[in-house]
Amino acid sequence: MALEMTVDILEHISVLEKEAATALESVVDVKALEDVRLKYLARKGALPALMERLKEVPAEKKREVGQSLNTLKGRVQTLFDAAKERLESAAEDRDVDITLPGRPVPDGHLHLITQVTDRIVGIFRRLGFAIAEGPDIETEWHNFDALNTPPDHPARNEADTFYLDRPADPRYGRFLLRTQTSPVQIRVMQSQQPPVRVICPGRCYRRDEIDATHSSSFHQVEGLAVDRGISLADLKGTLEFFFRELLGPGTRMRFRPHFFPFTEPSFEVDLSSESLGRSGKEWLEIAGCGMVDPAVFQAVGYDAEAYAGYAFGLGVERIVMILHGIPDIRLFEQNDLRFLRQF
Ligand code: DAH
Repeated sequence: MALEMTVDILEHISVLEKEAATALESVVDVKALEDVRLKYLARKGALPALMERLKEVPAEKKREVGQSLNTLKGRVQTLFDAAKERLESAAEDRDVDITLPGRPVPDGHLHLITQVTDRIVGIFRRLGFAIAEGPDIETEWHNFDALNTPPDHPARNEADTFYLDRPADPRYGRFLLRTQTSPVQIRVMQSQQPPVRVICPGRCYRRDEIDATHSSSFHQVEGLAVDRGISLADLKGTLEFFFRELLGPGTRMRFRPHFFPFTEPSFEVDLSSESLGRSGKEWLEIAGCGMVDPAVFQAVGYDAEAYAGYAFGLGVERIVMILHGIPDIRLFEQNDLRFLRQF
């Protein structure tokens, strides 16, 4: 009698498991799922009813039957949870409206300094200039000596120039962060014979007091042309063409005598243009230039009798600030998206 009872319950367990599994695998909606729950798992369902019958099982079989009942309960619960999740995710898929616009992926763009540098370089490339680049870490010789800068020149001061804390090069002297792109001229001339026509964009560094117009790091574009018979007229014509391309045909340019160690004669270039400045009538200082000093040719081993050349240097930040009416140089490096997105 007791044995029969036990066999009967174990059979029931196996039948119930199959039944419940079939029912749960085939539910297609929430209502059917709830029906299955009521039938098997709910307080008055088949599973608790079967659990009740554990009382009738003889003591020596209680353990075995109890374990089977627990396993059954666990399996049915797992199948129930799986069915529920399947229904829920199907409902979610149905709720997706594929006609809604997608989420926009914000795309970046080139920094304003890069954009304007590219434009500047592009104009000179059309005139036949090649791009040349040099290292940000330079030597005292390339940055100063070869450019005819005397040993006592104030720019060489440790208060104005970032010197690196590393042993000096036996031939080229102390290492520093270049204060100008002019040393690229030197490297180009050391590596090739004339004719030379190069445009050299790059970052420069100075230990300036930082304010609205001074930054410890900024950008320049350097130009150099060396050939037989190059004259000041070539320099003027080239720069005038360049500025009119950059700022429009109404741009006027004037050369003001100045001094740079590496050019003789030297000039500062002023611009006046409808598209610039407040009144469009004032002159804005925009570049330095001149005819390459024979001492520079000598430093790189060029024949100063046979060749002549001109050089110029532009400050990119200054041009961009004038072009776009930007009041503070610090905006370029603060990476405030409200500023960057305007350009
Ligand atoms: N290197 C100069 C500076 O940083 C700019 C400059 C002036 C470059 C005259 C030149 C030049 O090539 O001829 O102020």
